[in-house]
Amino acid sequence: MPEIILANHSSDALNRAIGRLRAGGIVAVPTETVYGLAADATNGEAVAKIFAAKQRPSFNPLICHVDGMVMAQEYGRFGSVAERLANTFWPGPLTLVLPLLPDCGIHDLVTAGLDSIGLRCPRGFARQVISALGRPLAAPSANRSGRISPTSAQHVAEEFADETLLVLDAGPCETGLESTIMKIDGSKLVLLRPGAITAEEIAEVAGQAVELPDTDGKVLAPGMLQSHYAPDAQVRLECETCPKGAAWLGFGNRTAPPNACAALNLSETSNLVEAAANLYAYLKQLDASGTEVICVSPIPNEDLGIAINDRLRRAAAPRCVESSE
Ligand code: TXA
Ligand code: MG
Repeated sequence: MPEIILANHSSDALNRAIGRLRAGGIVAVPTETVYGLAADATNGEAVAKIFAAKQRPSFNPLICHVDGMVMAQEYGRFGSVAERLANTFWPGPLTLVLPLLPDCGIHDLVTAGLDSIGLRCPRGFARQVISALGRPLAAPSANRSGRISPTSAQHVAEEFADETLLVLDAGPCETGLESTIMKIDGSKLVLLRPGAITAEEIAEVAGQAVELPDTDGKVLAPGMLQSHYAPDAQVRLECETCPKGAAWLGFGNRTAPPNACAALNLSETSNLVEAAANLYAYLKQLDASGTEVICVSPIPNEDLGIAINDRLRRAAAPRCVESSE
């Protein structure tokens, strides 16, 4: 059974988390995006426990969370654009994939043997944990591979109900969607995963265009695999109505179809930030109603709507769980 403790500013939660992490254990930590399942990124045995708990394929690398630029520069090679992006958007929901510095101490399991590393400086309690530990934390989203990311401590506890796991509870996540992932590849900027920080914002700070990855079948960020973030129910997109017995996930001021068996609205005022924060919790809630189909109304494909639609398309895609994260 997981144990949930409040991640407030008392030193108790911090001390217990640090104790577990130093001993090579894993701890679920809150960030502004989603809850992460964290281990000391320099300890291979500890990192292996993340892969085991998540049932995650070991070729899928983990994001390395740091408390700021000084720590980040011990592990990744920052050029001037990367430095500018980090200085502008950190702490915050941006992961930078950069060349990995040789012999920097990050365990190979974290990078899945690649010569690059995903670095992110999170907001919230996770950052305090990293500072207190004095080491980076490898942390994927705290869900079993291929399933919906958790945006509350309760989601994490339900997902890992049969594990002994310490879960630090800082309430619901502010953003509710995983970080934007930007790869800096030589002089190119490639968007590997859309998120709360948009490609436009990044292009403006970088002073150069952002490219979308080649989709010639090569997997750049395994999180880009088609099926992902999947509830048990089948997900249908761009719905105007729904069949009898299906659940309805609405957006904006249109009313739910009368024959929906359950209905929730991501944001009645069509606020995309609110919709992003509600997305995973509402998908879980509708899934728990036992329905076989969740119909989602159209969501504008702009700003944060791009990331919301990205996650919804993956939730709706044919399932291939072995290769997702
Ligand atoms: O918001 C987030 O990013 C959350 C919180 C916990 O920080 N983490 C998260 O981690 O979403 P995860 O493991 O669920 O997704 C990380 C994605 C994966 O798709 C992985 O393939 C990609 O980042 N990734 C990590 N390192 C990479 C690298 N060196 N090159 C390419 N992709 C990488
Ligand atoms: Mg994930």
